[in-house]
Amino acid sequence: MKFTADFIWGTATSSYQIEGNNTNTDWWYWENNKKRGQKYPLESCGMACDSYKRFEEDFDLCKQLNNNAVRLSIEWARIEPKEGKFDYIEIAHYKRVLSAAKERGLKTFVTLHHFSNPLWFAKKGGWASIKAPRYFARYAEFCAKELGYLVDTFATINEPQVYAMMGYLAGKWPPAKKSPIGSLICQLNFMSAHNMAYKKMKKVDKTPIGLVKQIVWYEPFDKNPNFWDVLVAKFIYWLNCDFFLGAIKNNLDFIGLNYYFTNQVKNFRFTHPPGMVSNLNWWINPDGLKKVLTHLKKYNVPIYITENGLADSQDRLRQMFIKNMLSATYEAMQKGAPVKGYFHWSLIDNYEWHEGFWPKFGLVAIDRKTLERKPRKSFYYYAKICNNNSLDG
Ligand code: FCB
Repeated sequence: MKFTADFIWGTATSSYQIEGNNTNTDWWYWENNKKRGQKYPLESCGMACDSYKRFEEDFDLCKQLNNNAVRLSIEWARIEPKEGKFDYIEIAHYKRVLSAAKERGLKTFVTLHHFSNPLWFAKKGGWASIKAPRYFARYAEFCAKELGYLVDTFATINEPQVYAMMGYLAGKWPPAKKSPIGSLICQLNFMSAHNMAYKKMKKVDKTPIGLVKQIVWYEPFDKNPNFWDVLVAKFIYWLNCDFFLGAIKNNLDFIGLNYYFTNQVKNFRFTHPPGMVSNLNWWINPDGLKKVLTHLKKYNVPIYITENGLADSQDRLRQMFIKNMLSATYEAMQKGAPVKGYFHWSLIDNYEWHEGFWPKFGLVAIDRKTLERKPRKSFYYYAKICNNNSLDG
């Protein structure tokens, strides 16, 4: 199983989850001003992995992994700490970060929005506000102008529908709303934010621009399913995939796919067969990845798997997980899916949002006291695959 010569091998992280001290964001505010009875988040982010300072050490690890790219994100609240006021000291910081990646031979896959927002933006109504797309597009254009020359691909927004679900429907993330209408408005705003940002960014910079979409594969649980299970699985998959991508497909140079699990449908509920699950109880089903990749062919743009990984504190399933997910990817490519790269989530253990630090997604473990980085066994396994550009030997 040889991958194409120019295949992209990397890992993925996001700024809020690793940088530490992102004090000017809605997430930070929410963690540090808990209301009575507020369960989540289970822990606050604090220093996270201190990657704001230790980014060179992190990129050295990427190099040890024989990676040729890295996916990371820029913190909007640092770049635009006050409405319309951009901070050139922070821009200089991110220039240093991106240059450090480049110096180590890593292509840079940069996400502009990965869940956290500047406080001022949240106070103005966040992603439910009609002005949200314009605010975001202005920031995105600024980033394209200032940083474009150091960036290999831009992703505007990470997992817009997960954000809309968690923040506006499940109420587990800020702004902790439970409103179906609010969640729909948020999704529509993300669509227009992407389209608007794409156009503005293209005017000032030529870097390819995509969006990162989490897609779950949905299928009926039974071998001989009833009509409703088939219909529900099809409808939810459509909502999770084509409903969103269809609205932005004319402004998309590539699709970033985050694939973690499959849901099976039985009697209007999600379930899965007994089998392998991660520490978060996510069902490990590589076949779902193959199905999603094959389905995405119709968009006719390159696909990067921008996240794929599992919470596995003992590192028991990770090698098997990587091997089987990559085999599924390879098979989808044989069937014509234009997959150009794979980023494992994640390089290092990090802040897993409302869950806090307990889920361990890293190829590299982090000592929570000293923040010392320590590669797990699977790190060396992935390094070998990236070096050989192949799953064999
Ligand atoms: C994805 C997020 C990422 C990380 C992984 C486990 O939904 O994009 O930040 O939390 O899940």
